Amino acid sequence: IIQAVQLRKILDSRGNPTVEVDMVTESGFGRAAAPSGASTGVYEAKVRPVDEAIDDAEQNLIPALIGLDAGDQAEFDQQLRSIDGTPDLSKIGANIAVALSLANAKAAASANGMDLYRYLGGAFIKETPFPLGNVIGGGAHAVDATDIQEFLVVPTGASDAEEAVFANAAVHRKVKELLIALGKGCGKGDEGAWAPHIDDITAFETVHQAVTAISDEMNITISMGIDVAASELWNDTHYHYKDADRTTEDQIAYIGELVDRYSLIYVEDPLREDDFEGFSDLTEAVGDRCLICGDDLFVTNTERIMQGIDIGSANAVLIKPNQVGTLTDTYEAVQMAHTHGMDTVMSHRSGETTDTTIAHLATAFGCIFLKTGVVGGERIAKLNELIRIEEQI
Ligand code: PGA
Ligand code: ZN
Repeated sequence: IIQAVQLRKILDSRGNPTVEVDMVTESGFGRAAAPSGASTGVYEAKVRPVDEAIDDAEQNLIPALIGLDAGDQAEFDQQLRSIDGTPDLSKIGANIAVALSLANAKAAASANGMDLYRYLGGAFIKETPFPLGNVIGGGAHAVDATDIQEFLVVPTGASDAEEAVFANAAVHRKVKELLIALGKGCGKGDEGAWAPHIDDITAFETVHQAVTAISDEMNITISMGIDVAASELWNDTHYHYKDADRTTEDQIAYIGELVDRYSLIYVEDPLREDDFEGFSDLTEAVGDRCLICGDDLFVTNTERIMQGIDIGSANAVLIKPNQVGTLTDTYEAVQMAHTHGMDTVMSHRSGETTDTTIAHLATAFGCIFLKTGVVGGERIAKLNELIRIEEQI
């Protein structure tokens, strides 16, 4: 039974305010914080400014949550939805909702003396997802860097998640070495990826070289992927790159070529967030050898995922709890994807805290990858939690 709920404003990794929730039940405690995006999809649940959202929640929302059974997650989330009353959670704010919803689950897990992954995933959970992380990035996450938002790596041949976490870190380090050799010393973007002033093909070549070197060194297969975040490139008629404008047709052909040239096993948001048809053309072309994953396309929303399933838009779904606002909705999105033979990738946001909940959700829900960067305090918090979870199971 929920006895007290405390909301506070804390810092995120970009230095912006975000919401943290402490929830106290008779015998449990749960804490969770909301992350935030920079390349947010237009169909995401709506965030409210932190100060006013906290004030409003303290007066109009929290009193209605006291006395609820934290063990009934569906009922708790239903209460959030019905008090809010809007489809996009714009009244209470998706940032408030997601922090409350996750804190509630953690309080219930703690009351049961269980870790969250075990409480949500059950007794038969026996493996964790592998980490998918970006080593070079640009787009909305860095100024004057690559057009493609994220150049990702995942050690598909690693023997376990721990080895995979260290393989990604080794690639990240090798990429730095190669960039310096190119005379491109550089800083990092919002998610800890290197953010050099280079074109996309140079980025591909650099990551490919780093992956080859570390694969040889560690004797494991390391694969490449990208998050195009194509809605950020779209300008109403074309995808605008520094060196080219591409029509939808050109874009589909271009991404298909990249998949083959660099053996990409993962491509996220190759097309803009409304182009279900373009997605399905690409999935038809390369979906047998590459995961085509919808982030801004699906925004973790079951109605949009269903729309994609109907025409075969993708074979993977990015899962971001704060895009949809509650754990119940997040779970339903995962279930819908899995039921229809799609993989799921649990994801961080570019603005993060040291909250580690997504490592637990990714394990509990059977996601194929945990996408959470490679280095940086707010990213390694989740990777290190993944290592701890793996040790336990
Ligand atoms: P965001 O980007 O968190 O800035 O929206 C991450 C992504 O596009 O996957
Ligand atoms: Zn994305």
